[in-house]
Amino acid sequence: MEKQALETLLKELTLDEKIGMIHGNTLFETKGVERLHIPPLKTSDGPMGCRQEYQSTKWFPIGFSFDYTSYLPSNTALAATWNTELAYETGKVLGKEARGRGKDMILAPGINIHRSPLCGRNFEYMGEDPHLASELVVPLIQGIEENDVSSCVKHYALNNQETRRIDVEVEASERALREIYLPAFKAAVTKAKAKAVMGAYNKYKGRYCCQSPYLLDEILRKEWGFEGIVISDWGAVHDTKEAAETSIDIEMSVTDNFDEYFMAEPLKQAVLNGEVPESAIDEKVRHILYVMNELHMLDGERNRGMYNDIADREKLLKVADESVVLLKNEQNQLPLARKDGMHILVIGDNAERAHSNGGGSAEIKALYEITPLLGITMQAGGNIRVTYEQGYNARTKGRIWDPDNHTEESWQATSLEEGADTPQSKAAQFDEELAQRAVEAAKEADVVIFVGGLNHDYDTEGKDNESMKLPYAQDELINRLLEVREDMVIVMMTGSPVDMSAWVDKAATLLHMSYAGMEGGTALARVLFGDVNPSGKLPETFPRILEESPAHVLGNFPGDDFVNYGEDIFVGYRYFDTYNVKPLFAFGHGKSYTTFAMKDMRVIADEGASHTVKVTVENVGHMAGAEIVQLYVSDEECSVKRPKKELKAFTKVFLQPGESKEVTLTLTEESFGYYDENRACFVAESGVYVLGVGDASDNIMLTEKITLQNEITYK
Ligand code: GLC
Repeated sequence: MEKQALETLLKELTLDEKIGMIHGNTLFETKGVERLHIPPLKTSDGPMGCRQEYQSTKWFPIGFSFDYTSYLPSNTALAATWNTELAYETGKVLGKEARGRGKDMILAPGINIHRSPLCGRNFEYMGEDPHLASELVVPLIQGIEENDVSSCVKHYALNNQETRRIDVEVEASERALREIYLPAFKAAVTKAKAKAVMGAYNKYKGRYCCQSPYLLDEILRKEWGFEGIVISDWGAVHDTKEAAETSIDIEMSVTDNFDEYFMAEPLKQAVLNGEVPESAIDEKVRHILYVMNELHMLDGERNRGMYNDIADREKLLKVADESVVLLKNEQNQLPLARKDGMHILVIGDNAERAHSNGGGSAEIKALYEITPLLGITMQAGGNIRVTYEQGYNARTKGRIWDPDNHTEESWQATSLEEGADTPQSKAAQFDEELAQRAVEAAKEADVVIFVGGLNHDYDTEGKDNESMKLPYAQDELINRLLEVREDMVIVMMTGSPVDMSAWVDKAATLLHMSYAGMEGGTALARVLFGDVNPSGKLPETFPRILEESPAHVLGNFPGDDFVNYGEDIFVGYRYFDTYNVKPLFAFGHGKSYTTFAMKDMRVIADEGASHTVKVTVENVGHMAGAEIVQLYVSDEECSVKRPKKELKAFTKVFLQPGESKEVTLTLTEESFGYYDENRACFVAESGVYVLGVGDASDNIMLTEKITLQNEITYK
């Protein structure tokens, strides 16, 4: 429909009809206007798939038998792949599933930066680096929106903790906002042309994000030219007039008094009594009609989508395969050779626990979920005895959806109430009997694999963790097991870094994976047996201990009424590098079963500050594999303090044994600047810059210097 036709349609709407379109009419939908063939806008969570159907007015699942859906890898797992093509494929699956379930907007992706290892929702986000997140979120959104489904990039902005999320005031410098916390949102809006943005709960500069003229009108609309929908987080609007005056278009919440929402009857009354011009309502509805038109909701030519498509599971498996990070393989214990009659012992609650149905609004009623134990058993094949010991007793049993328990009200009904964010304690609950059984069994097996870490009792929306310590007294169990089996393979499954200091130096073989979706167990098994060569790299730094994490050293976390981002731009490796603090595992770290060499780095100066960097990568080992070439920029002469280096380009290259390829990395003028608060723009000063290429942020293998002759400024 042409713009003029949309304007005509807008003019035909009554005030009641317009008000009905800008607030929740059910928990996940707004009202349509049947007489004008405007359908309701149907939303659904979330980043890991299309959530099960809830009742219209109460937080009880309906309990359909047909709303089992694909369970996708978490955004942190996707980030660990560093694979922009897989991001696109993941987006296509997510959008196709949502459309197949009849939705118009999927409330994803989440792209808030991992500021602290304690944030309960880190698993839903893409790590600590704005460039990595920006490069992945664009194809992800493009994939989603190809299906005539709106993405909804969230939570805008500065929602980096769950404690007091609904009202905490974030104190962050403009420079940290621009260099760290906004870039992925800017890329989503200006490059991927995302059709919706979800306003966050928290406050910034004294205003709730969903009523912030600075974030919504100044930056999102004016600077970035965003024409899509701004939808509130559920319960994130607090004032009718402020909402009317700022560019929030739809108010959603967790209660069923829909007509009493701030942007419902109260806003209608404010218009009728002249407090608010009707044009303010028109502007909101205009954004909604614009998106509906883009989604072909008004002309009937709609993509049908499809959920649970068998063909998509191969793609999700590939993402899971590439999300597994090999942290240590000191004895070359991996890959495991399948031997007739061998006995593999798998230990740990996370080996047989389902995670799909947890985590908060990212929960998925999964069609199925291959756990690590099932994956190892399936991939081992017959004549290999795979036995299991729980080893530690986790608090609640993760479960694939139990059709009989849809009578349970969701946590979300009370998610905005006082105390809802009280973190789970990590009280040690060492279970001597379980541990002893595991230790005895470990003595007999040919191979011992421990799968532990966290679960969605700890990696969850609405709560942060109190510490990085592993729950369920896993440290003691791991140490007892390592005493009898120093060759034990350890798999940490977590959505955030955890404290491994109690045993990590004794562990020769260690892997990390986040919640990797319905084929996560298959992927782990394929990596362990070498059917897949691990290629994942950490999307965030793993500190040795929490007290060495920048938000907890220079800033505060989680704060109280206020939270101060005192570490400023020194988030993640930007801190560890610059302050010379050695982390346990560095950002971008991840090993392979083969070895790669990098050589012949060449830099070609292009137009302005743009440069092309070429590097030859060679697989000098005996197994096909993939390397992630990372390019970091260092500005050693800058007039202001900058991080020692910053990731500004990367590429993933797949090579057969002995094969070499020249890869190309591109730097633009935006690869060199820092944000100057006084000049309210980015500045790339003239002078010498060092370009460092390597396979991890702490392993730069080649460097070249370039000189910018003139200072460059950009927005
Ligand atoms: C929740 C979450 C948001 C989710 C929404 C709907 O509070 O913060 O990410 O999409 O409400 O469930």
